[in-house]
Amino acid sequence: MMGRLNITEPLLIGHTIIDDEHLYLASLVNKSMDAIAAGSKWLCAETVDQLIEKLGQHFKSEERIMTELGFPETKTHSQHHVDCLKKLMSIGSRCETGDCLGKECVLDTVSLLVDDLIGADMAFKGHLQLIGYRG
Ligand SMILES: [Fe+2]
Ligand SMILES: [Fe+2]
Repeated sequence: MMGRLNITEPLLIGHTIIDDEHLYLASLVNKSMDAIAAGSKWLCAETVDQLIEKLGQHFKSEERIMTELGFPETKTHSQHHVDCLKKLMSIGSRCETGDCLGKECVLDTVSLLVDDLIGADMAFKGHLQLIGYRG
């Protein structure tokens, strides 16, 4: 049984739009985990497809917010987003060709998301605290 991706309090950024999007993305990852656990490769593939779309939208809105709030690392962060999306798309292409690794793919997807949420976005959390952002 794989652990679920839970966005707990310390993982919240402190920006409502970003946090809501993170919660939604985590729910999609959990859905693909459940699908694989239930042996449903097609549902997993469909969910990964949705995740690619939503992650792309999330990155755009996050970058817009970062720019608006004067985050000095927006450029490097955007590059990190490009890399994340590329990795997820290569996972997605495995679904399409039927080259499904099951659990392994899902774990790769989890680590991608954790990478953005913990690895990269936490720096923005620090920036929001620095400028005293509320909301
Ligand atoms: Fe993010
Ligand atoms: Fe990010």
